Amino acid sequence: MKEAYCEHIYSSIVFGFNGYKYCNSVWDGPDFIPFEEDDAWNKNEKRRLDLINNLKKGVVPTNCMGCPDLHYTEKQYEDNDLKRNIINKITIFNHNHCNCKCFYCSVNSVYSGDEVRKSLFYDVLPLLRHLEVDNRITNNTFIAFNGGEPTMLEEFNDIANIALKHHCKTEILSNGIVYNEMISKLLIDRDDSILYISLDCGTNDTFKKMKIVDKFNDVVLNIKRYIEDLKNAGKEPFQIRIKYIIFPNVNDNKKEIDAFFKVCQECGVRTVARAVNHNDRKINSSNKNMYLEASVVKSYNYFKEQAENYCMNLILELWAEAIIENKFYTCRKISPITRLKSEFHFRFGKKY
Ligand SMILES: C[S@@+](CC[C@H](N)C(=O)[O-])C[C@H]1O[C@@H](n2cnc3c(N)ncnc32)[C@H](O)[C@@H]1O
Ligand code: SF4
Ligand code: SF4
Repeated sequence: MKEAYCEHIYSSIVFGFNGYKYCNSVWDGPDFIPFEEDDAWNKNEKRRLDLINNLKKGVVPTNCMGCPDLHYTEKQYEDNDLKRNIINKITIFNHNHCNCKCFYCSVNSVYSGDEVRKSLFYDVLPLLRHLEVDNRITNNTFIAFNGGEPTMLEEFNDIANIALKHHCKTEILSNGIVYNEMISKLLIDRDDSILYISLDCGTNDTFKKMKIVDKFNDVVLNIKRYIEDLKNAGKEPFQIRIKYIIFPNVNDNKKEIDAFFKVCQECGVRTVARAVNHNDRKINSSNKNMYLEASVVKSYNYFKEQAENYCMNLILELWAEAIIENKFYTCRKISPITRLKSEFHFRFGKKY
């Protein structure tokens, strides 16, 4: 009999908005445990075992059916002490609070001003401590921060210390409004750890239009500080990726893109990342293919030219590339699963 297998069910944990799940591919994952349920954490791990036992019999959770990450195999996966399996991937996505308010925000963030405010979301730290005590966090564990603005989390430094203690690879997505030296420590600790900073423009005015707050200069200063930290540690700052999401009639003009590259050059940036709006995927009604507006495609190409002119590494967004190249993505294929997979590819696929 063939076993079904997905590595996420065996070894991932997502600390989601309202509870725990094993992957980010579908909204609720194969199973979802609301954090408010009694004994939620133990239930989570017990259900993981139940899911694995079912997979071994070829029984697949409904939400996993058709997922490209699911495999059928003759191989018998060991089940000795699964409870203590190492966790390969931890995604921290427990909150959507932020110190700015981007008009495009995909997590529909809650603006909480400058103050780090403890609010409705639950703490991840005690759960990480459980994993630590059971020796389930090692240098093979990858910790990704997603959701709202990670530098606002009260527990951020403690979580970073766990990552440092076990030499975990990390990925942090930040708006850069607040500088935190722990982020530099994480980047210095591992060459493959990454920091994305969403700058998205090259001028103060556009920044204010996009993000409401007047913090362009703070972000630029913080980019400089992170780069300086890496240089002082003897590293070229390739791990710091400055992001630009292209929006029609907002930041898709050459002047803005030129200003962005100029600022990045002044800061000593070595890697930039271009992206398009995930919230507005346009589908051609006749051929069902996805497409991007002509102005976005033009700016997308111009961004690449400028990255070459400024000798900066460029991180691509795979699905947008495929649409522009008119290759193989059709709208049927761009399911939420494929979308996330492509985003993970674009984030982790290129190694320096
Ligand atoms: C929700 S943010 C949280 C982290 C941090 N506050 C930031 O903005 O970088 C996570 C990532 O989603 C990206 N993002 C947010 N809204 C998006 C959208 N509509 N389209 C594409 N990417 C988006 C951001 O650029 C960021 O890299
Ligand atoms: S939805 Fe896909 S990636 Fe997620 S646990 Fe199921 S098979 Fe794995
Ligand atoms: S900085 Fe990030 S979390 Fe905050 S509003 Fe912008 S995209 Fe959303």
